[in-house]
Amino acid sequence: MNPLYGLYTRRLRRQLTGLPQPRHIAIVMDGNRRWARRAGLDDVRLGHRFGAQHLEQFLTWCAAAGVNCVTAWVASADNIRRRDSAEVDYLMQLTETVLADHVRRDHRWRLHVAGQLDLLPDSTARALKEAVEATRDRVGAGDLTIAIGYSGRLEVLDAIRGVLDEAAEAGRDLTDVAADLTEDDISRHLHVPGLPDPDLVIRTSGELRMSDFLLWQATRSDIEFCDLYWPAFREVDLLRALRTYGRRKAPTTQP
Ligand code: IPE
Ligand code: MG
Repeated sequence: MNPLYGLYTRRLRRQLTGLPQPRHIAIVMDGNRRWARRAGLDDVRLGHRFGAQHLEQFLTWCAAAGVNCVTAWVASADNIRRRDSAEVDYLMQLTETVLADHVRRDHRWRLHVAGQLDLLPDSTARALKEAVEATRDRVGAGDLTIAIGYSGRLEVLDAIRGVLDEAAEAGRDLTDVAADLTEDDISRHLHVPGLPDPDLVIRTSGELRMSDFLLWQATRSDIEFCDLYWPAFREVDLLRALRTYGRRKAPTTQP
């Protein structure tokens, strides 16, 4: 590793001391295929392989920085519906063999899954559910949510369905349900209820949009856009994003 990089990393870590820090970071890991093309790889799926392995490193950096709630967007509902089947199959294999396995081995995280699991092949949905079960009772672990087959709008629709189903079961009158509906009712029925909203969303690859990510949860989040493609995102880029966040949130001494 470049010694200057080590020095810079340590300097950034020092600069974070005493600054407010996000409790929950959500990451949009974009740019895998462009990264692969730029690296001269003929098979862009290799970008996904590096991208999936890179998430393991990112989680280590988050844990080292003291951030123990992370949501990682692995694939959108549209990615799964629209991309060619060889690419989607490969992504699903990676999810089973790299992501699910990693979380089972890495005792720092409890796994949660957000998204339309019925869009996934059975084996992928099963591997994820098993990893969720295997990690559920980890005491003192952080919360890692994998968003896969995910659409923020569909998640909100699912939450509204959940509210209505619950009301129907209780035999409530719809007019009363509508009159009493609160934000909490929706939050309780999200795919992964009970997590704090993300304080910071990071999106790589220079794309300046949210693309239907965490529609409900990220309404008040800070957003950091980074020009690097996901597999090229480094620890210093995370630390810089944390520094920008911390400085923005630090109580100002100005009147
Ligand atoms: C992000 O990389 C991973 C997924 C969306 C599955 P992309 O596959 O979107 O790569 P680019 O943005 O086309 O380079
Ligand atoms: Mg993309």
